[in-house]
Amino acid sequence: MARMLYCWLPFLCQMPGLQALSLDTLASQSSIYYQRAQGELTLDQVEQLSAVESLKLIVHGFLGSRTHSSIQPLRNAYRAQGFEHLLIADWSPAANLDYPSSRRAISKVALALAQQLEQFLARHNVSSEAVHIIGHSLGAHIAGGMGRHFNGTLGRVTGLDPALPLFTARSEDSLKASAAQFVDVIHTDYPLFGDLTPRGHVDFYVNYGRAPQPGCEEVDLLAASKLLREAYSCSHNRAVFFYAESIGLPRNFPAIPCSWKVIRSSRSCLDHLSVFHLSNASLAEAIANMDDSQVVYMGEQVTHSAISHYYLETNAAPPFGQGVNAKFD
Ligand SMILES: *[C@@H]1O[C@H](CO)[C@@H](O)[C@H](O)[C@H]1NC(C)=O
Ligand SMILES: *[C@@H]1O[C@H](CO)[C@@H](O)[C@H](O)[C@H]1NC(C)=O
Ligand SMILES: *[C@@H]1O[C@H](CO)[C@@H](O)[C@H](O)[C@H]1NC(C)=O
Repeated sequence: MARMLYCWLPFLCQMPGLQALSLDTLASQSSIYYQRAQGELTLDQVEQLSAVESLKLIVHGFLGSRTHSSIQPLRNAYRAQGFEHLLIADWSPAANLDYPSSRRAISKVALALAQQLEQFLARHNVSSEAVHIIGHSLGAHIAGGMGRHFNGTLGRVTGLDPALPLFTARSEDSLKASAAQFVDVIHTDYPLFGDLTPRGHVDFYVNYGRAPQPGCEEVDLLAASKLLREAYSCSHNRAVFFYAESIGLPRNFPAIPCSWKVIRSSRSCLDHLSVFHLSNASLAEAIANMDDSQVVYMGEQVTHSAISHYYLETNAAPPFGQGVNAKFD
């Protein structure tokens, strides 16, 4: 049974001598790829870059790779918007192990990727401020580790449902607000693969950050029953879909402030809208009554002055964001 399960993961089937390879070796096989309209380049193949104002780096999660479906929506959305400098990390050698091993590898993976990125930036005279790393799941914690390597000088790190299993709020190697000048986090899958711990300057709790997300009710149970088969977790991957949608629709995810205490205790963020002189309003009503400057939009274009904790709701199917409806009803 175990054998069947493992051989179903392509990487392990090709590596019969896996046990002999240390985690260090696997982590050191992590690389970054520069995306072009046609195909990709390794970083050392990139010769000349026009002035780089902004550079995105996507980092996949457990069981992923640079071509994995869990991060494709991000790549596609940036491409559709004509985004020029897009990098994708691939740490599949260390990501396709058992979960505890992959989790243990993240600091080593972060170091390997950070060193490659640092060289690339130096070679092309790009400042670390221009860099925005977007990491999903374990990739969010890796992005945090890379941010530490750069001493917090990166422009931005976005954590898409940072992984929960085998992490605590205090884990040294977890994503933290110190990872970059601005850190935004989207929570969607507590208590399965995602956590509620605030890990950024701004943390968005979509539908209270909990599984199942709308539209995932039946799929999540299946994923949970298969233990850590994160690749199939609907609510966990929703963070990626939401973020990808926001790249093309920057005002599609309006959110309201809500205290961490209320979010954690599962009380209603809508009970506390007295500041807007609304009681028992729906989220859409609340947002419609707010001054535009008070609304914070989750996603790619989030205002960097946003701080603390925000609540929002989504649709069960694409388009997930309710921004258009909330504003133009
Ligand atoms: C590097 O970029 C900075 C500003 O972005 C510029 O002032 C400097 O001349 C550049 N250095 C080289 C070697 O191109
Ligand atoms: C981070 O800080 C350390 C200690 O000051 C320094 O040695 C290192 O070069 C810095 N890293 C980067 C990427 O700037
Ligand atoms: C809000 O609605 C709940 C039930 O939906 C009700 O118990 C509560 O009294 C209402 N609060 C206000 C202030 O109207």
